[in-house]
Amino acid sequence: MIRNVLCIGAGYVGGPTMALIADRCPEVNVTVADINTQKIGQWNSDLLPVFEPGLDAVVKRARGRNLFFTELTPQSIAAAELIFICVNTPTKQYGEGAGMAADLQYWEKSARTILAHAKPGTVVVEKSTVPVRTAEAISRILNFERKGPHFQVLSNPEFLAEGSAVRDLEQPDRVLIGSELTEEGLAAARKLGWLYEHWVPKENILYTSVWSSELSKLTANAFLAQRVSSINAISALCEKTNADVTEISRAIGTDARIGPRFLEAGIGFGGSCFRKDILNLAYICGQFGLSEVGNYWMSVVRMNDYQISRFVKEILDRLFNTVADKKLAVFGFSFKPETNDTRDSPAIQVCTRLLQEQARLAISDPRALDNARKDLAGLPGDASSRVAYEPNPYLAAEGAHAIVLLTHWKDYKALDYERIYRSMQKPAFVFDGRNALDHERLFDLGFNVVPIGKSPRLHF
Ligand code: NAD
Ligand code: UGA
Repeated sequence: MIRNVLCIGAGYVGGPTMALIADRCPEVNVTVADINTQKIGQWNSDLLPVFEPGLDAVVKRARGRNLFFTELTPQSIAAAELIFICVNTPTKQYGEGAGMAADLQYWEKSARTILAHAKPGTVVVEKSTVPVRTAEAISRILNFERKGPHFQVLSNPEFLAEGSAVRDLEQPDRVLIGSELTEEGLAAARKLGWLYEHWVPKENILYTSVWSSELSKLTANAFLAQRVSSINAISALCEKTNADVTEISRAIGTDARIGPRFLEAGIGFGGSCFRKDILNLAYICGQFGLSEVGNYWMSVVRMNDYQISRFVKEILDRLFNTVADKKLAVFGFSFKPETNDTRDSPAIQVCTRLLQEQARLAISDPRALDNARKDLAGLPGDASSRVAYEPNPYLAAEGAHAIVLLTHWKDYKALDYERIYRSMQKPAFVFDGRNALDHERLFDLGFNVVPIGKSPRLHF
C-alpha cells in the first residue's frame, strides 16, 4: 500500500523508530534524513549515534536493504508517499515564551521544505512532540493556495522510553494516530495504520482526532513525571519521619488503581522531554487563561528542582559542610541507565553545584562520558580543571571521600565494594541517589550510607 517512507530527523526517536519500521515492513523503502551529516555518517557506520540495547541488530538487518540514512534531498521528498517529521522541539530560549514554549522552528522549516518538493497527496506525520493544534498550523502552511489533493497532516506521537526503545517499539502499549475526521483524513490515518499493522495488533492502534492525539502525548509525559515528583515529595517526608520510601512505594503500588511503576524515588527525573513537555503544557494553559492548571503542572517541575537541590545539600551537610578540594567519585551521568543520553540529566546540575563548592570530581559512566564532557565544558573559573572523566569506577573511587551514585547502571551493583572501600579516604561515604545499592552490606563494610527517602546508616 505504501512503498516509500521518508523521515526527517535521525535522532533518538527518528533513527530507532524508522529502523524498526524498515525491519518489520521489508517491502517498504524507508529513508531517514538529517541536516547533521556527521550523524548520518554514524548511522551508516558500526558506531551508531544512539546507544540502545538491541538497536545494532535491528539496524544491521535492514540497513542497505530497505533502510537508508542520507542527507535530505528534493528527490527523496518527491518520492515519499508518507513523511514523518521527527525533528527536535526543544524549549524556546528566546523571545515570546522563552523558557516555556516549544521552539517550533525546526518543525516549520521541515514543513516548508516538504512544501517545496513533495508531490500533492503526500501524508505528513508529526512524530515530534508538539503543542496541541500544531498540525493545524502546519496544515495551513502546506495547503496554502493549493489546488488538487491536499496534504493530510497526521499526529502520531512516540511513546518510547530511552534505554528500552527497541522493546517499546516492538511491543508498544498502544500506537496513537490522530487525523482530521474527514474522509481524506481517515484514509490517511488508515495508510499509516497499515504500516504499524505489520507487527502491532489492530486493537492496540488507537485512532483519534489530531488535537486529542497531540494533547495525549503531553498529558502522558506530564502524568509520568508527576508520579516521580509525587514519590520524591514523599521521600523528603520519609527522611524526617524514619519511614522508608521503598516500603511506601511497594505498599501503594500494590493498589491496582495506583500500580507499581514510576514510583522509584531518586534525585529527580531528567531526559530531554519531561521538563520540556510540562513547561510547554503549562505555557499552553497560560495562553488559554488557565493559570491555575498551568501552576498545578509547574509544581511537578519545581518539586524536581527541589529534589536535586536537597540531594546536593545533603552531600554538603554530611561531608562536614565542605567539599572544597575533596575528591568525589560520581557513578553515572546519563539521565537513566542503558542510554548515552545526558540531556537534562540531574547529573549536570548535581555536578555543577558540587564544582561550585570547589569539589574535585571523578566522573564515571559506561556510555555517557563523551556527552558528560560536552555538558560540563565551559564552566566558569577553574571548574573544568577539577573534573576527571574515568571510565573505570575503581579508579574513579580511588582516594575519594565519597561515592555519589546518580544513575543506577547495573554495573554499579556488581562492583567489589570491599576493594573500593579500602582505596578510599575515611570516613568513606556513599550517597545513593537512586537507592540502587545494598545499603546493609555497604554499611557492614564500613561505609556511611546516605540514601533517598530512608534513614542514613552512619558509623558515628
Ligand atoms: P534529537 O535531537 O535526538 O533528533 C532530532 C534530529 O532532527 C537531529 O538529529 C537534528 O539534526 C534533526 N533536524 C533538525 N532540523 C532538521 C531539518 N530541518 N532537517 C533535517 N533534520 C533536522 O531529538 P529526539 O530525541 O529524537 O526527539 C525528536 C522529537 O521526538 C522531539 O519532539 C521529542 O520531544 C520527541 N520524543 C522524544 C523521545 C525520546 O526519547 N528522545 C521520545 C518520544 C518523543
Ligand atoms: C519518557 C516516557 O517514559 C516516554 O513514554 C516518552 O516517550 C519519553 O519520555 C519522551 O517523550 O521523551 P524517557 O524520558 O526516555 O521516557 O525515560 P523514563 O523511563 O520515562 O525516565 C525519565 C526520568 O524519570 C529518568 O531520569 C528516570 O530516572 C526518572 N524516573 C523514572 C524516576 O526517577 N523514577 C521512576 O520511578 C521512573
